[in-house]
Formats: sequence, C-alpha cells, structure tokens
Amino acid sequence: MEYEINAKRTLGGISPMIYGHFIEHFHRQIYDGIFDPENQLSDGDGFRTDIIEAMKRIRVPIMRWPGGCFVSSYHWRDGVGAVRQPAFDKAWRVEDPNTFGTDEFIKLCRKIGCEPYICTNAGTGTAEEMSDWVEYCNLDNEGKNAKLRIANGYSRPYRVRYWSIGNENYGAWEIGAKSADEWGRLTAESAKMMKHVDPEIELSAAALADINWNVNLLRSCGQYLDWISVHQYWDMMPEVNNPADYGACMAFTSNIGRAVDEVRGILTAMRLEKKIKIAFDEWNLRSWHHPNVHTVVQGKRREDYITPRDKNDDNSTYTMADAVFSACFLNEMIRNCDIVGMANFAPILNTRGCIYSYRDGIVLRGTYYVFMLFTEFMNGEAVDVWGDGEPELMEVTSKSSRRVSVRTVDIAAARTADGGVSVSLVNKHPTDEKTVTLRLPGVFGRAVMYTLNGDSVDSYNDVGREEINVTEREAGDVNGTVSVELDAHSVNILRISKA
Ligand code: AHR
Repeated sequence: MEYEINAKRTLGGISPMIYGHFIEHFHRQIYDGIFDPENQLSDGDGFRTDIIEAMKRIRVPIMRWPGGCFVSSYHWRDGVGAVRQPAFDKAWRVEDPNTFGTDEFIKLCRKIGCEPYICTNAGTGTAEEMSDWVEYCNLDNEGKNAKLRIANGYSRPYRVRYWSIGNENYGAWEIGAKSADEWGRLTAESAKMMKHVDPEIELSAAALADINWNVNLLRSCGQYLDWISVHQYWDMMPEVNNPADYGACMAFTSNIGRAVDEVRGILTAMRLEKKIKIAFDEWNLRSWHHPNVHTVVQGKRREDYITPRDKNDDNSTYTMADAVFSACFLNEMIRNCDIVGMANFAPILNTRGCIYSYRDGIVLRGTYYVFMLFTEFMNGEAVDVWGDGEPELMEVTSKSSRRVSVRTVDIAAARTADGGVSVSLVNKHPTDEKTVTLRLPGVFGRAVMYTLNGDSVDSYNDVGREEINVTEREAGDVNGTVSVELDAHSVNILRISKA
C-alpha cells in the first residue's frame, strides 16, 4: 500500500486537548479510586500518588468532572466547606460522602498539571446555581460565593476556564431530561449568567448528532457557546456485559467519525463552524456496565444494580481491540482538527479507563499506551495523507452479525514543532502484517518506529501480567520516502526527526 504525506498541506493545528480525559463520581473512579485517604499510597490530600504519576506520564491536558449522569442532580455547595453532608446520588443510587468536591478537584488538577473542565447540573440545577459555581471558582472576592471559597481556605480564585452546561439532558435516562425547546431556553439563560460572572470562560452545552436538538440549542444559545459537546460509545453494554470481540470492534471503526461529520454539517449550515468547536467530551469504545439504572425497573435489589458494576473492572475486557480502536479514533480527531478542539476519554481511571487501580497498585491497560504515544508524538500541525487508488479493505463481522468492510490501515500525520514528522499507522488486520510505503516529498531524516502491541488480538494487561507494551526500533533514513512493516493488530508511530 502506498500513501503520500505532504508536510506542506496542513489541515490545522492539533489541539493538545484532544488527548483529554473524564472522571466521574461513579463506582471506583473517585472514591476508592483517585481519592483514597486511607491508602498508604495516598498523599496528605488523600490522592493516590501512583495514579497521579501515571496521569502525568500521559500528559493529561484537561480533566472533565464530576459527571456524566451524576452531575444532573449534584449540588456543588454540598461538596465544599469544613463540614460535608453526604448526599444520595440519585443518578447512580448510592450515597456520595461529598468529601471530594470542587476544592479537591482543583487540587487534583494542579497536581496532575491539567486544566479543570467542570460540567454543571442542568438537570435539577438552575442558571443561578451554575453561575454561582463560576463565582465560587473564578471571582476574586466579590459576592458571597467567592467569599465562601476564601472562608474555606482558598484565597485565590481558580480561574476555571472550561465549563459545560449539562450532560446528556436530551436523554430520557438523564435526571432532569429536557425537550429541545426547554434545553434551548435553559442553556441561553445559564450561559448568559455564567458569562456575566466571568466573560473569559469557554462554554459548552450538551448536544448530540441530532439536527432538531442542535438547531434549537444553537439558535437559542449559539451566541454564548464556544464548544458543542458530543458523546459516543460504540460497544454498548449498559445492561448486559458482553464485550464485542476483536472483529466486531474493528467493525465499529467503519463509522468512527460520523458524529463529527454530522455536527460539522449543522455548524456549517448555521455559519457557526468558525466560532464553535466540537468537544467530544465523552468517548470510549466500550460503554460502562451499570444494569437496572437507566431503565428504572421497580423491585430491583442493590445487588441487581450495584454489584454488577464490578464487572467493569475485569481487565481481560480491554484488549488490543481497545488500543487499535482508540488509535483510530484519535487519528480521526487529528484529521478533523480544524473543528475538533477537545476529546475526553471516558473515563481515565477504572470502569473502562486506561488506568486500573487496586489497593496496592495500578495496571496500565493497552489504551494507556495509546495516550502515551499520541501525547508525545502526534502534536503540532496535522498534515494531509492520501492513498494511491482504492484503500485495502478487510471483511469483519459486526456485533449484530452483519458483514462489514473496513479499511485495513488507518493513518494520520503531523508536522511537529521541531520540524520533524510523526505518522500514526494502525494495522487493524487480525492476522496479517502489512507493508506500507510512504512518499514524503521534502522530508529527510532518521526514523524510529514505536509499536504498541501484544501477541494476539486478545492480549491484555492485568495485575502481574504485561502482555501489551511498546517496543522501539530503528526504521532507517528517510529521503523523501520510507517503507515500513506493520505487525498485525498493531498501533505504530513512525517518528522522523529532521536531518
Ligand atoms: O455510562 C456512563 C454514562 O454515559 C455517563 O455518566 C453519561 O454521561 C453517559 O451516558
């Protein structure tokens, strides 16, 4: 297969925030996850230092919090101050001790070195409660909310730049679900008040690839918005925990950019594509498993809807399929970098995250290494890649037993700030190695290939088991062209340093 990469044909700047993450008050993401004061591995603030170090190694640029469905009945005042009252979390139907709140979240982001991104309660919340939260975080000392932060011991404002109005308020499963018309009105009033508090903030609002919802939202609130929020999970398992196999996961790559294309079309039709960017602020190949919650079935016992959440912790679920899919997703975001400015892996820790934690340590799942490679090498300016002739296709069977043709190889490229070129090359084929020749006019230098892989498509990492890892090899000199071998089911970064 031959491709041409013209380092002069740029598609746009790659925002570091497309390698962002999300953490929610769900199962063991916060409590018994990152926030575990009793654990010997935790620091004086109660945060797991091993997890923070792992987050720093993948250069987390931005962290979205506190939800997700959780936020749609969350009241931020319950989570600040010396005395925290536990609250019943009506989304996930457990008690939240509220010992982790806004101040702890900001501390966490400072320790990681990432931007905080706060999603507000547009379910049971009001425009006033959302804008009061902005006061608490961003005003120096004007008004009772800034003074409350000072009284809590935090004299300097947090200057939280990124805020989202609501979560998935379009969905019947969401507490405080709204109609399109209701949503347009609420977001407009909330956005107005939040920007009156701090005109410097950047605002997103929950959206989806639905023209009616988005047109209402953008007509009512487009003047205030800087982002439009999109979520997607492909291997849907909320009720039944039956992970798709490798072939079915590759089938999901056939439409990986569809939501971006649809939202881009709506923004363009409304002449907003230069003003509003897409924040793909929840994505993961695998949806979270939490049966009997979104479908509130009466008469269910706790063991019917709490205990099954532990199944998300089965590390054998997260194979090369997750790593290959995630690399294809990030390639798609790179190719759409002119309109996608943020993406948040949902979540970063436990559940379907790239890091799994247990009492005595952590496991780095395959997707962790995708972020390690992409944050190190796939930055700068995205450059155009095109193949000669028709792309090679492979036939796979989808989770719904349909035969689907997908491209065997997925490639994206970047011209980095140091004048080098990085090429992300994914070979989705389950068994066959692929040879790819890249024509790179005007590019000369030394190439190194970083390959993320395991012995089989079903390789995975677990406690005491490291089957997926990154290897590095010299790939020779590049004089305007280079040929590389891509192992089966592998994620590769070809790094060409300028001669
Ligand atoms: O399954 C987790 C949920 O997925 C998040 O809380 C929500 O935002 C999305 O529906």
